[in-house]
Amino acid sequence: MGDEKVVQVKSEYDIVVARSVVRAIAKDMGFGLVDQTRIATAVSELARNIVMHAGEGVILVREILKGETWGIEILAIDNGPGISDIKLALSDGYSTKGSLGVGLGGAKRLMDEFEMESAPGQGTTIRVRKWLPK
Ligand SMILES: Nc1ncnc2c1ncn2[C@@H]1O[C@H](COP(=O)(O)OP(=O)(O)O)[C@@H](O)[C@H]1O
Ligand SMILES: [Mg+2]
Repeated sequence: MGDEKVVQVKSEYDIVVARSVVRAIAKDMGFGLVDQTRIATAVSELARNIVMHAGEGVILVREILKGETWGIEILAIDNGPGISDIKLALSDGYSTKGSLGVGLGGAKRLMDEFEMESAPGQGTTIRVRKWLPK
């Protein structure tokens, strides 16, 4: 199992770095091109949300093993304002910044697992996973 990779995220440029770091790990793990793109796109959205809504945070990437199945796990963590209504935030078209509002819903659809922990004043932690097809 590889080491955990940590990407500090506070600028547009960091979003690109997070995206390419995750894509490289996914590729090394054996994910196909389409899955690499799905994973990279989901991470871009999570990193973009950190920059746009929280100012700064971190993306953690690691390989995980469940039974005999390998997966990639990404955590997006910030200490920003948090989200009061998680269900609403996940619905397509909802944005508090007047942007498209499809980032969270998109990330959820692109990955196999999606969990979000957030509360006003408590920051936001999002965990996504994708399992390697056998
Ligand atoms: N890391 C975050 N911290 C605080 N609020 C967030 C965060 N990520 C998402 N949100 C909230 O959830 C809403 C929906 O996110 P998203 O679907 O990515 O749409 P968009 O980023 O286009 O507004 C955002 O408008 C924002 O209010
Ligand atoms: Mg967004």
